[in-house]
Amino acid sequence: MSDLLEKLNWRYATKKMNPNKEVEQEKVDRILEAVRLTATSSGLQPYEVIVVTNKALREQIVPHAWNQAQITDGSHLLVFAAWDNYTEERINTMFDLVNDERGFTNEGWENYRQMLLSTYPPRDAETNYQHAARQAYIGLGTALIAAAEEGVDSTPMEGFDPAKVDEILGLSERGLRSVILLPLGYRADEGDWLKDLKKVRRAKQDFITEMN
Ligand SMILES: Cc1cc2nc3c(=O)[nH]c(=O)nc-3n(C[C@H](O)[C@H](O)[C@H](O)COP(=O)(O)O)c2cc1C
Repeated sequence: MSDLLEKLNWRYATKKMNPNKEVEQEKVDRILEAVRLTATSSGLQPYEVIVVTNKALREQIVPHAWNQAQITDGSHLLVFAAWDNYTEERINTMFDLVNDERGFTNEGWENYRQMLLSTYPPRDAETNYQHAARQAYIGLGTALIAAAEEGVDSTPMEGFDPAKVDEILGLSERGLRSVILLPLGYRADEGDWLKDLKKVRRAKQDFITEMN
């Protein structure tokens, strides 16, 4: 089995983390860098990652997240927060950054910018947020793989009240909406009902259709 597949078999949605074991900052930094490097539609990166280590903030979130203790037992809480809308300014900022970094402009790229500007901002904010949130999920997937690669445990969480988390972290005023939580930590030796259970997935033939 490849190293990566072994690590993906090792990872699981950890139910109980060891509150006395912190994830090393350089590991967290590499996980975040993997997320920064991952793909997004049109390269707009329409979400941000909030890294919450502040214990008081994490304690405030727990009752609004099904009392899931990994949020405080882990050492870092990643909050994937998507843009609440696509605005002309947000789209232009990203296209301008690409032009600045590459040092040239290109007609095809500028036409593509105009196409997005005429398509996204006129749409309703909820449609745009949903599109941005889908990009945040790609970031989540990347973070799950990167954490496994680092031997760091994590728990992807949709089980929370986004409006409350937005309020606690002051996300609305930044034009962001929380999409998904990902506590990082290390699995506890005891007290995790899932730790030693078999990973169950549908059989390959029920999951993958090959059309030759
Ligand atoms: C988008 C998403 C949301 C999830 N939300 C939760 C959650 O709130 N709490 C939890 O304990 N597990 C949550 N999970 C974990 C899944 O139940 C778990 O990934 C799935 O059962 C596969 O098992 P494994 O990840 O342990 O291999 C979530 C997973 C994903 C991808």
